[in-house]
Amino acid sequence: MNTYRVVQVGCGAMAHKWVDIANERPDLEMIGLVDLNHATAEKCAESHKLPLSIVFDTLEEALSKAKPDIVFDITIPSAHYDVTLKALAAGCHVFGEKPMADTMDRAREMVTAAKASGKIYAVMQNRRYLPYQRSLRAFLESGGIGDISTVNADFYIGAHFGGFRDLMESPLVLDMAIHTFDQARQISGADPVAVYCHEHNPKGSWYRGNASATCIFEMTDGIVFNYRGSWCSEGLITSWESEWRVQGSKGSAKWDGVNNLEAEVISVAEGFMRKHESVEIPEIAMPLTGHDGCVDAMMTALHEGHDPETVCMENIKSLAMVHSAIESARTKERVEISI
Ligand SMILES: NC(=O)c1ccc[n+]([C@@H]2O[C@H](COP(=O)([O-])OP(=O)(O)OC[C@H]3O[C@@H](n4cnc5c(N)ncnc54)[C@H](O)[C@@H]3O)[C@@H](O)[C@H]2O)c1
Repeated sequence: MNTYRVVQVGCGAMAHKWVDIANERPDLEMIGLVDLNHATAEKCAESHKLPLSIVFDTLEEALSKAKPDIVFDITIPSAHYDVTLKALAAGCHVFGEKPMADTMDRAREMVTAAKASGKIYAVMQNRRYLPYQRSLRAFLESGGIGDISTVNADFYIGAHFGGFRDLMESPLVLDMAIHTFDQARQISGADPVAVYCHEHNPKGSWYRGNASATCIFEMTDGIVFNYRGSWCSEGLITSWESEWRVQGSKGSAKWDGVNNLEAEVISVAEGFMRKHESVEIPEIAMPLTGHDGCVDAMMTALHEGHDPETVCMENIKSLAMVHSAIESARTKERVEISI
């Protein structure tokens, strides 16, 4: 098995998980760390028992001196464009954190650059690698509740981050809802067609931008995906993975985003109110989950020579949901989603 040499850009909060993954996998070797703040990169190296000699001042320096095969981009959303284009131009694959980019134009350029380079640019969507979500998807795909018409997700969390999210214009939709929107694509097996979104900043919010949103997405196959979310919600919080309800022609399924999966289908098909019975949703076991599962899928794709599930050409559809929702919130109009 080939070992791929990695330079990681961005050594903040999320970075540590990626360094751990590189250190744990035999097919990855961490050979460079870069951060705008040199001390942050040094601290990251020290805390993972990596030599300080692998800390570089800039990505350019790391690319030319360390000559990596892969760049991990764990910088903030507005920096993903620059990092990805530079890394692809240097002949590297890029595995980057969500969201792909802070604008659709930039994301489209990143896709064009990835195609032209012949390298893989894939995006972290760790929630695609949750066993209960995979189980729900497989159950729906097998026709467990008939034809799907509606998917609902509720996300209510009170997250006091500090840092870049407190200053973003649309922190919930741009930095968080990308997860939920991408989950909706995986759960429904449908792609986005159009959206109407209303964003607002609740009373008492500690965010500068809008920290709450309600969106109605029209999806392919006539499916409607309803999203209600807030990042400044105190009490009765949901899971970070959201609470889900899926309506089908024969029944309904629910998932609390943690481990409670349930479904009911029609048992007696007559009467004013049909009778229903619980059905079991078979659980799918996954050896690697979350970030580990997603990086494993990226590495498997590299080894086998195909695109991973979250390759940029696919993932841009989830990003388009984000940017179209933001556009709709600003224009107060239904926005058709194009990638
Ligand atoms: N997948 C997930 O579940 C998940 C969870 C949290 C964060 N994230 C994503 O991870 C990314 C990083 O988030 P974070 O929470 O670690 O942020 P952070 O602010 O803690 O860290 C970002 C780091 O990147 C550095 N940086 C910024 N621009 C840079 C540049 N151009 N070159 C080099 N370094 C640069 C900063 O100095 C900082 O140290 C974001 O895209 C975020 O959305 C994903």
